[in-house]
Amino acid sequence: MPYLMGLDISTTGAKALIIDENGNVIAVANSPQPISQPKPLWSEQNPGDWWQGISASIRRALADSGLSGEDISAIGLTGQMHGLVLLDENGEVLRPSILWNDQRTGAQCEYMTARIGARRLIELTGNPAVTGFTAPKILWVRDNEPEVYARAAQVLLPKDYIRYKLTDAYATDLAGASGTSLLNVAERAWSAEALDALEIPAEWLPPVHEGTQVTSTISAAGAAATGLKAGTPVVGGGGDQAAGAVGMGCVSPDKIGVTVGTSGVVFAPLNSYAYESGGRLHAFCHAVPGAWHFMGVMLSAAGSLQWYKDSFAPDIDFDSLLAEAAAAPAGCDGLFFLPYLTGERSPHPDPLARGAFIGLTTRHGRGHMTRAVLEGVAFGLKDSFTLVAQAGLPDEHEARISGGGAKSPVWQAIIADVLAAPLVNINTTEGGAFGAAILASVAAGVFEDVASACEAMIQTGEEVAVGANAAVYAERYEIYRSLYPALKATFARL
Ligand code: XUL
Repeated sequence: MPYLMGLDISTTGAKALIIDENGNVIAVANSPQPISQPKPLWSEQNPGDWWQGISASIRRALADSGLSGEDISAIGLTGQMHGLVLLDENGEVLRPSILWNDQRTGAQCEYMTARIGARRLIELTGNPAVTGFTAPKILWVRDNEPEVYARAAQVLLPKDYIRYKLTDAYATDLAGASGTSLLNVAERAWSAEALDALEIPAEWLPPVHEGTQVTSTISAAGAAATGLKAGTPVVGGGGDQAAGAVGMGCVSPDKIGVTVGTSGVVFAPLNSYAYESGGRLHAFCHAVPGAWHFMGVMLSAAGSLQWYKDSFAPDIDFDSLLAEAAAAPAGCDGLFFLPYLTGERSPHPDPLARGAFIGLTTRHGRGHMTRAVLEGVAFGLKDSFTLVAQAGLPDEHEARISGGGAKSPVWQAIIADVLAAPLVNINTTEGGAFGAAILASVAAGVFEDVASACEAMIQTGEEVAVGANAAVYAERYEIYRSLYPALKATFARL
């Protein structure tokens, strides 16, 4: 029987997953990853930590499954998007990776917008200049660390650094490349126009591939470090959101993905390239060959709840904390939470946006505050869901929910009520790694294309219906929507 492996270099862990051709998860191993925030707005990780973590996870997944490297037919890669890995001409890492949630590049985004033009940038790359994207980070290094910039010879995304360590080849996938601001998203190729305007050498970028295309094979050194077999094919894979969407079966316009991970995402597949002229939604290539997608991204979704628990309720377990939230009334007696703890992207691309509790009174207790966090994140998702719906959805469509935060039935019910859309659960919670393994299954010849692989390997589960609180939330959402515009200038002063 063919086995497929998915590797996920996420912000919190380096995960290896093995599935069989029916989509059964045979083994999963995860190595937690440290993150460093050395200055306000900064967020970094060491590529060497990812490599150590994923090598250990691959070895553990193989050992736990009782399989050997020989049994793995193909490997798919996924991971956190947008991160900048800079290598010198010998392939050595030049500085810590600057991550997707790093917000230091405000000035460089203004420069990019001035050089390329606001409208042209959106039309060409599908997106405005976004602080978390890769190109402004390259420019930040140019402006602030000229000695590092002078030695740069190669730009990679986080998961593609692992591809390089495994296969000795520089390569990336189109979904990941879409998050750099350097891709002509309609043409599915690097944009000479953007590269020229920003004076970034084209030879620094790796070749781009579709998600199911083989980029390279495991090298002797990659095999020695991991227990994989030299020669095993590695496919393009996808950025975590596109690969995660494949893992949820969101590979056609009638399946909308809602993911509550560290970030919160609404993902809408497209059959042809389109962009949102206000740039409030991302327009990217999908990991499905020849497809695109819209995406709204909030930066702190489950990340907000994690911060709240760590800061204010470290001694109580999640289930008890969420039980208190379930007992609080919908709408929290007028208490709101703004989830902009690390700035925001959709629909307010603003690195200076801040989190807030608004409407506190002496009647509010911890249950209200926890519930306000859950509701605030749900309102943030509704901002993106509304934009996706305005861009046009097929009459018959289904919203599928996934991600660590989605494991909570209380939160799922709140999200269904706030979105006023029923939510369908799926049989796997392994997200991007599962999707990457599905992409590998197509390259291994197990399935003809991604749609038939998803059809065979993904089952839908319980549906969360829209409940009676939807009416309360429709009213509350209007108040929520008014809060960011009212506070924007204050946030900037803070
Ligand atoms: C997507 C995004 C995040 C990161 C980290 O645009 O920034 O999803 O990929 O998960």
